[in-house]
Amino acid sequence: MPDTAASSPNNLDAFWMPFTANRQFKSNPRMLVGAKGMYYTNAEGQQIVDGTAGLWCCNAGHAERRIVEAVSRQIAEMDYAPAFQLGHPKIFELAARVTGMFPSGLDHMFFTNSGSESVDTALKIALAYHRARGEGARTRLIGRERGYHGTGFGGISVGGIVSNRRTFGTMLTGVDHLPHTHLPEKNAFSRGQPEFGAELADELERLVALHDASTIAAVIVEPVAGSTGVILPPKGYLERLRAICDKHGILLIFDEVITGFGRLGTAFATDFFGVKPDLVTLAKGLTSGTIPMGGVVCTKEIYDAFMTGPDNMIELFHGYTYSGHPVAAAAGLATLDCYKEEGLFERANAIAPYWEDALHSLRDTPHVVDLRNLGLIGAIELESIPGKPTARAFDAFLKCYEKGVLIRTTGDIIALSPPLIVEKSHIDQIFDTLRTVLKEVA
Ligand SMILES: Cc1ncc(COP(=O)(O)O)c(C=O)c1O
Repeated sequence: MPDTAASSPNNLDAFWMPFTANRQFKSNPRMLVGAKGMYYTNAEGQQIVDGTAGLWCCNAGHAERRIVEAVSRQIAEMDYAPAFQLGHPKIFELAARVTGMFPSGLDHMFFTNSGSESVDTALKIALAYHRARGEGARTRLIGRERGYHGTGFGGISVGGIVSNRRTFGTMLTGVDHLPHTHLPEKNAFSRGQPEFGAELADELERLVALHDASTIAAVIVEPVAGSTGVILPPKGYLERLRAICDKHGILLIFDEVITGFGRLGTAFATDFFGVKPDLVTLAKGLTSGTIPMGGVVCTKEIYDAFMTGPDNMIELFHGYTYSGHPVAAAAGLATLDCYKEEGLFERANAIAPYWEDALHSLRDTPHVVDLRNLGLIGAIELESIPGKPTARAFDAFLKCYEKGVLIRTTGDIIALSPPLIVEKSHIDQIFDTLRTVLKEVA
């Protein structure tokens, strides 16, 4: 084979990078080559404090010993096992342990490889559930403006971020959307859950009046919207959504891909808000980002509705080659051990007030038009440069990276979600750097 530039390890051209400005990146790449605890190391040997837990996923911190050992052991012991008509013990144990962390009634778990697959799976289960109960006309799915549910066709259909939707055709039919709950004119600079906006849940009544409840299968929302730039549920909003769903026999799906596994200082947002959905989508923190894995937790009623008919019949024609992958299962079990043994959810809860104060200390910093926080989530909304949306926040991202702090930006919003092992010194480093950078950016 000719030794062309294409086979050179330094050629960046072949990899079509996801959610990245490819040409801009490749002209000035930012390469990460190592990770340990709260820090990445880049190709230049610089330490970068991780203000985003990778992509909201490395909740236990990087290269956590228990997880590294469990994965290494498992890959040597059994690298792969099919999950169709066969099983292996660890995946049953993981399902039992994860469901055991939920309020009783949320008793069963399906495995996927990502948040996007979890969302597709939950939507499919919702549709098939109604059909199994003889209400097959319930085919409509309701999402929310500015929602992010991954990038599968199901997820972008119920999602509400225009850039993720506009170039991909008609998507799923029979989908409608609730309004988002971002009300900066009333709620700017709220600490924790905002006061105003619970009544936005009543928009679901309007959709019911328009479509009729008998056509609606499920409502899916992120309890805290993350990828759109952190939108918090107003006080009482999720409770109202639950009540309206109950009234009309509509399933409520919480997409807990980012809120799951301690992000709010509780195991799940379900616990934090005291609102119990019918289905929960998970991924990311399930394995602390180490091995791709997702899952869907559902109620006993939903599971039982499928467990009818001859018992040699497959009840749900759905699954993935890597559903319940043994290496991911080992990573998941070790991750849960780590969360428990280190008390990481309690830790996140304990340090959240310090996080909140540090975030809100940026209030008088240039360009800041809103600050939002809950648990170990923070958002800094910047005023956009006229005619150049996203430019200011991206510039802040680059400058923070140069100064050794990893942040994430969506539009002109900076979103922060550190590993749950974060210490006060890291929080100080993150916000001191941001304060300096926000004074520097145009
Ligand atoms: C709420 C939510 N759902 C789904 C997804 C999609 O997850 P994945 O990227 O693993 O497909 C994400 C990813 O950020 C998410 O935040």
